[in-house]
Amino acid sequence: MPNTGQGASAHDWWRTAAIYEVYVRSFADGNGDGIGDLAGVRARLPYLAELGIDAIWFAPWYPSPMADAGYDVADYRAIEPLFGSLAEAEKLIAEAHALGIRIIIDIVPNHGSDQQEWFVAALAAPAGSAERARYHFRPGRGPAGELPPNDWPAMFGGPAWSRAPGSGGGPDGASVGGPAEWYLHLFSPGQPDFNWAHPDVRAEFASVLRFWFDRGVDGFRIDSAGLLAKDPALADLGPARDGLDPDLPPRASAGPGRAALDSPAAHPFIDRDEVHGIYRDWRRIAASYSTDRVLIGEIWLPDHERLARYLRPDELHSVFNFDFLCCAWEAPALREVIDATLDSHARVGATPTWVLSNHDVVRHVTRYGRAETAFSMSDRRIGAPSDLQLGTRRARAAALLTFSLPGGVYLYQGEELGLEEVQDLPEELLQDPTWERSGHTERGRDGCRVPLPWTTSGPSLGFGTAAPWLPQPQAWSQLSVEAQEGERDSMLTLYRSALELRRSLPALGAGSRLDVRWLDLGDDVVAFSREPGFTLVLNVGGEPVQLPPGEVLLASGPLTDGRLPADAAAWLATG
Ligand code: GLC
Ligand code: CA
Repeated sequence: MPNTGQGASAHDWWRTAAIYEVYVRSFADGNGDGIGDLAGVRARLPYLAELGIDAIWFAPWYPSPMADAGYDVADYRAIEPLFGSLAEAEKLIAEAHALGIRIIIDIVPNHGSDQQEWFVAALAAPAGSAERARYHFRPGRGPAGELPPNDWPAMFGGPAWSRAPGSGGGPDGASVGGPAEWYLHLFSPGQPDFNWAHPDVRAEFASVLRFWFDRGVDGFRIDSAGLLAKDPALADLGPARDGLDPDLPPRASAGPGRAALDSPAAHPFIDRDEVHGIYRDWRRIAASYSTDRVLIGEIWLPDHERLARYLRPDELHSVFNFDFLCCAWEAPALREVIDATLDSHARVGATPTWVLSNHDVVRHVTRYGRAETAFSMSDRRIGAPSDLQLGTRRARAAALLTFSLPGGVYLYQGEELGLEEVQDLPEELLQDPTWERSGHTERGRDGCRVPLPWTTSGPSLGFGTAAPWLPQPQAWSQLSVEAQEGERDSMLTLYRSALELRRSLPALGAGSRLDVRWLDLGDDVVAFSREPGFTLVLNVGGEPVQLPPGEVLLASGPLTDGRLPADAAAWLATG
């Protein structure tokens, strides 16, 4: 049976779950073509069960032209042929369930693919047609409509508008009855934004949710969940806020940033009030199956109060805590973000989540080894020097912090091996659209998507039998599962032990705001206790710290004379 966590009944399993993100393309290659696939995942399910996770979240596995690594979905009811088939996905779901692992899949509702049936039909249809109404088509500005309809920037660089070929219904782009229209894409041109004010769009996604719930999927991770609703007037952002928030998903263009959120409700596409109605509908659909089907939002909002609105009891079950991910390795900053998270979630009765890495951000071993440890999407600092030994020590400590906080945790494949960001991939292999769209100034996210090392040798360190789609650093041989298995001091062993303890200790699990009692062990120390009898101490500073009385259950590294050194954490059983 799936782990239900301490104090959580089966139907609210998600409140305490450890959810592991599988980025299919880079997890394991079952058929030897160098690209990860479902056969690879099926073969490694026992590994995931042993790791001690409760659920897998799959990054998009749908057929896709891969303009944005699958976040451009061409068919929401099928599996990308490179990855496998629908029948295989159904087997995978059943096999995972048999091992006590639930399945969350990505859903991408903000935009589709430019090769999806609806969009192909929209391009073929004239301006003003019913087909085009499902997207945001508009005439351009300027005498011949040669300028984009408004000033919105795309997250991967360039304008958020592309001119429609064939616009106006004429052959080969010639227009019949007017200049060619433009279509909106907040991401790449291959990802046209849906018009969520259109009933077809709402009905289509309701049906897609049911399609996968019917196949046993336990929930959805909702991509770009805060962006679906658009200002019907598509008004300019204007000079005061002509950019996106820096903490929104990847974008290449420089921009002013947080000004974009000065009055969030009025922003033309971020966090508009209308979006909540969509998630109320979705919650009803999920609940019509059972109360343990969940909805998880990817929402980048620095405003905790606004974020918490998505977690009202009739909306989403949880959201990713990106503020925690972005936080600098400094005790006051960490305490502050933890406090703010606990407060805002407590107010709506939601449980927080804690996340250090995912397929969009620089791996945290690398972040924590840099001089500047805070992370921002708008400045990934690829190539900035990083002390990987220091980063690894901090990553070990961060894992113990994360796993001891109340709520759910998200792991990104490979963090349990201590993988770093690969910052020197050959330019000709870079696939992230950011690279092209930024005019080759931003390398993008490929460095956290390098295939996993499973064995110490072989053409792809056990990833598959062929060379992998992105090359792995040779040093990863020593970070492979094979190399770390059974090693007392390895990252893998730390993760396995911590996840196992997290399940068995009554103090760990969902908990509540009141449940975290801060301890004052100095400015550079993050320390709290939880009932019954558990204490976490994390030393972020320079001097070793005297631990409070209690038995050390787990430590991220060796203690010096019973004291906790800098960049280390310990779990204690305290009275
Ligand atoms: C989300 C995904 C990211 C993708 C973007 C557009 O931020 O995590 O990988 O590029 O949405 O779908
Ligand atoms: Ca393959």
